[in-house]
Amino acid sequence: MGDPVTVLGIGGYVPGVRVTNADLERHLDTTDEWITQRTGVRVRYRCAPGEATSDLAVEAGRRALRHAGRTAVDVVVVATTTPDHLIPGTAPAVAKRLGLGTVAAFDVQAVCSGFLYAAAVATSFVESGSATAVLVIGADAFSSVLDPTDRTTAVIFGDGAGAAVIGRGTAADGPGWGAFHLGSDGDAADLITVPGGGSRARSLPGQEFGAHLRMAGGTVFQAAVDAMASSCRSAMHSAGWYAHEVDHVVGHQANIRILRSVAQVLEVPESRVVVHLDRVGNTSAASIPLALTAASARLRPGDKILFTAFGGGTTWGAATLVWPSRLPATTVLGDNDD
Ligand code: COA
Repeated sequence: MGDPVTVLGIGGYVPGVRVTNADLERHLDTTDEWITQRTGVRVRYRCAPGEATSDLAVEAGRRALRHAGRTAVDVVVVATTTPDHLIPGTAPAVAKRLGLGTVAAFDVQAVCSGFLYAAAVATSFVESGSATAVLVIGADAFSSVLDPTDRTTAVIFGDGAGAAVIGRGTAADGPGWGAFHLGSDGDAADLITVPGGGSRARSLPGQEFGAHLRMAGGTVFQAAVDAMASSCRSAMHSAGWYAHEVDHVVGHQANIRILRSVAQVLEVPESRVVVHLDRVGNTSAASIPLALTAASARLRPGDKILFTAFGGGTTWGAATLVWPSRLPATTVLGDNDD
């Protein structure tokens, strides 16, 4: 048992190129009204030319370390589907640039569920005694795989990074992280894909590289609601929580209608669902820690937070966290205004 494994600090960052719905209207067959009503997204941010996922991850990681008052961790885990390169992984460079030296550093790839998978890994490291503190960063630059002419994906996704330092708190922090309920369904692999770039589809002369994201939006929508709701139920059951006790649902920010549907199925009031996608879009692995960071001023010690995600793979998950007492309300925000 011992002291709880909890969150010691959080931080978020989005890059500087701001893209509004009005900007998208200019070159896509879409409207601000459609995007707002069908997805909830109003603004997203994209990397500038030359900027990459690790640049976002470093900034979010720096903010989380500062919030935690730490200059050292034992492990860095970067959840990303848009690494800087196929080889090497992104985490070692991030660790080095953060001044963390030669600590263990590796990437986790679970698409939009990546942060929860990485947080589960980090929590296990700390629980097992292999680490005292782990920096977990969800970072993605989906602008690098978007087809700018595909109105079903180009309007949704944005780039960003969010981070959390996970380590041992004190008894005053409450129970910290509860059980993680993670799942996957490889039969549904075709729903969200970037076919090229890996060993299955090699780049041959004259052959379509398949470098762009493809998503079967409608099917993904229903699968996301079902998987997020059922994993939330499992996590709540493990934690012994009833729906009316949940103070905040921090879900993957894919579509406001998905978040509303999950809340409805779980019978959690919609007012307790953290909505951040209107300000940054779907930032994949960054989405949960960015939403948590943006909501941080509202979080009170002892608040019960239910996390849930769904992404390509398909993958999904849920987890519970009791917000610790040691973290004061913070002004760290997810969109560069801290
Ligand atoms: N602007 C205007 N019209 C659009 C549009 C856009 N950006 N994108 C799609 N449409 C049109 C479609 O062509 C279709 O037109 P039709 O009826 O004439 O054929 C109509 O809107 C409805 O399309 P549909 O795909 O049913 O829309 P939707 O309401 O399901 O919304 C998504 C599409 C992608 C926003 C939605 O399905 C979604 O959010 N899916 C889940 C994404 C997700 O959770 N990802 C998680 C992992 S990242």
